[in-house]
Amino acid sequence: MESKRPEIIICKDSLEFYSKAAGAFINLSSFFQAKNGSFSVALSGGTTPMPLYALLGLEAFREKVNWSGVHFFWSDERCLPPDDEHSNYGNTALNLLDKLDIDDNNIHRIKGELGEAAGPAYERELRRVFGTKSGELPCFDLILLGMGGDGHTASLFPGSASVKEKVKLVTAEYVKKLASTRVTFTPPLIQNAANIIFLVKGGEKAAVVRAVLESPYNPSVLPVSLTLRAAGRVRWFLDKDAASML
Ligand code: 6PG
Repeated sequence: MESKRPEIIICKDSLEFYSKAAGAFINLSSFFQAKNGSFSVALSGGTTPMPLYALLGLEAFREKVNWSGVHFFWSDERCLPPDDEHSNYGNTALNLLDKLDIDDNNIHRIKGELGEAAGPAYERELRRVFGTKSGELPCFDLILLGMGGDGHTASLFPGSASVKEKVKLVTAEYVKKLASTRVTFTPPLIQNAANIIFLVKGGEKAAVVRAVLESPYNPSVLPVSLTLRAAGRVRWFLDKDAASML
């Protein structure tokens, strides 16, 4: 598949950044629930999306979503217990899930406490929920992603085996630079999403944002660039600093 330039939305400040991201979430939830009766969303970890989750938990935004039809997943997780301060699930619960009355059957967290076994366990959960067989790819309505300063996304890091994975939906891999094991969606699963939304803030990421959009396609070096060959709609929400080299 040829690379295609994503839609770039440059926001003047954090208020615009998070309000527009919340609006996109709400619109996609309404669209897919009207179309299919449910909305499958894989959330990102890290720090950037947490204010978005907190915003969605505020009454003014919370009441705009039919939460009973939303199925929550995570695009990656650290191999930690859910109550660890660095757990992506744990931080999402603190900022959003604990403010909602969500059926436990709609929360599909990666069981990081299982360690490497969390990878195959999550793949089984995805196949169960989406009803896909081996060789078939689930299609998420939305995958939210961030980007690290080294060009990683989810937990697909430069030079990792996971970034070259073509068959599995989920992998668990020891990340040497972090001295920890991470569970992550693989490139084929991410590329098959109907919608991908990136949330990227900060001048320290500006050079990588430019590199992703201007450099030759090389996901082993810049894993985030795999999304240039995604099947669906890809949007990058950037603040002015992250967009400063475009
Ligand atoms: C994680 C994320 C990771 C994150 C980037 C950016 O588990 O940490 O999935 O891919 O999105 O590292 O993190 P920040 O938003 O904290 O800059």
